[in-house]
Amino acid sequence: MTEPDLNLVVLGLGYVGLPLAREATRGGLLVVGLDTSARVVDGLNSGRSHVDDYSDDDVREMRAAGFSATTEPSCLDRADVVVVCVPTPLDEQRKPDLRAVEAAARMIRDHVRVGILVVLESTSYPGTTDTLVRGILEESGLMAGSDFHLAFSPERVDPGNGSWNLRNTPKIVGGLTAECTSRAAKFYERFVESVVRVSGTREAEMAKLLENTYRHINIALVNELAMLCHEMGIDIWEVIAAARTKPFGFAPFFPGPGVGGHCIPIDPNYLSHHVRTLGHEFRFVELAQEISGRMPAYVADRVASFLGRRGLSIAGARVLVLGVTYKPNIADDRETPARDVIRHLRERGAEVTAHDPMVEVFVVDGDPVRMANDLDSALASCDIAVLLQAHDAYDLGRICSIAPLVFDSRGVTRGPNVERL
Ligand SMILES: NC(=O)c1ccc[n+]([C@@H]2O[C@H](COP(=O)([O-])OP(=O)(O)OC[C@H]3O[C@@H](n4cnc5c(N)ncnc54)[C@H](O)[C@@H]3O)[C@@H](O)[C@H]2O)c1
Repeated sequence: MTEPDLNLVVLGLGYVGLPLAREATRGGLLVVGLDTSARVVDGLNSGRSHVDDYSDDDVREMRAAGFSATTEPSCLDRADVVVVCVPTPLDEQRKPDLRAVEAAARMIRDHVRVGILVVLESTSYPGTTDTLVRGILEESGLMAGSDFHLAFSPERVDPGNGSWNLRNTPKIVGGLTAECTSRAAKFYERFVESVVRVSGTREAEMAKLLENTYRHINIALVNELAMLCHEMGIDIWEVIAAARTKPFGFAPFFPGPGVGGHCIPIDPNYLSHHVRTLGHEFRFVELAQEISGRMPAYVADRVASFLGRRGLSIAGARVLVLGVTYKPNIADDRETPARDVIRHLRERGAEVTAHDPMVEVFVVDGDPVRMANDLDSALASCDIAVLLQAHDAYDLGRICSIAPLVFDSRGVTRGPNVERL
């Protein structure tokens, strides 16, 4: 027996919402994407993708299978399931900014119907679903857990990861009630291979924060070790390669020029802020932030001292920064540490040019960075190339053979003219 069609509305069509809309469409659901950005909506409706990993062909395939996008909240009137995938950034004081979640919840409140399932996927601190979102939805007069279902399911999307995607990555689901969990699990089982049920929304919210905080702390640990190893004349990359041969009890993390993206520099703040409201400090997170926050200045200092040892001053040096995105093989430059590295290099008097095969325009402090189009001639005319992101498109051997000096913040090159972090 085939299951009846479900009308799904995905609220927020970014890095999280678009993959969800695509898998659900492929799973046979009738999917409408609701986004406040007319640019995003018009683009998708004309078959254009704005998200890494998704081509225009993918969007056209979704369109052919019935997907459409809109800025019009009236689409919520026909929804059986609504999944919220809106951004959860930090405000100017680096505190949680839940305005998009609140706006999304108000939009749903005005259309909520008996029997509907509402799922929050946006990362936030424990209690967001069963207090903030629930409170707004219940202003409709309908009660969560009895009139409609409410759940949290953290997104684990990893842009640029060719192996793990929404379909084959286990999906955690926690509802307000057992029935809410069951409804949400059955919904995701339509297009996700494995669903992990937890007892409530707070456990699901916390699981996501644990995952990101774990990464945050371990990256900071190897960043601090990298700085110490350099002073002790030890190659941190060799140390990690050796340690990871242990088949149990060790997971490798790698140092770099700092943490970036929408998750690692942001999500643990949601947790530490929440912990502060309980009168405690989350010292691990704060320490991790402080250590990784030092890395861009540390990279600039190491570049300056490498140049110095080769008889050149950083002041006036022509520095070519390679790769400005926060992770390899994607075009996303949100919260990328490249911005801070360039800022520190400029402060030390360097003349910075950048190259990134995925990025055409890159602005630091309102000032667009000069972007090199021809990589070979940029390498030949710089004093030093600083590798911040090792995109697959980079021929590392060629970079090292053309650039006079290379500072490698990713530990992927070797050579007489190379210094590694
Ligand atoms: N990007 C990732 O790799 C990733 C991974 C896991 C979890 N998350 C979490 O998922 C959530 C969404 O992140 P993202 O990277 O997809 O964000 P994004 O910025 O790529 O996309 C968000 C979309 O939501 C739209 N939007 C904003 N306010 C809206 C509103 N009130 N109503 C409807 N649409 C609205 C925006 O126009 C945008 O298109 C965040 O909480 C993030 O922490 C992100």
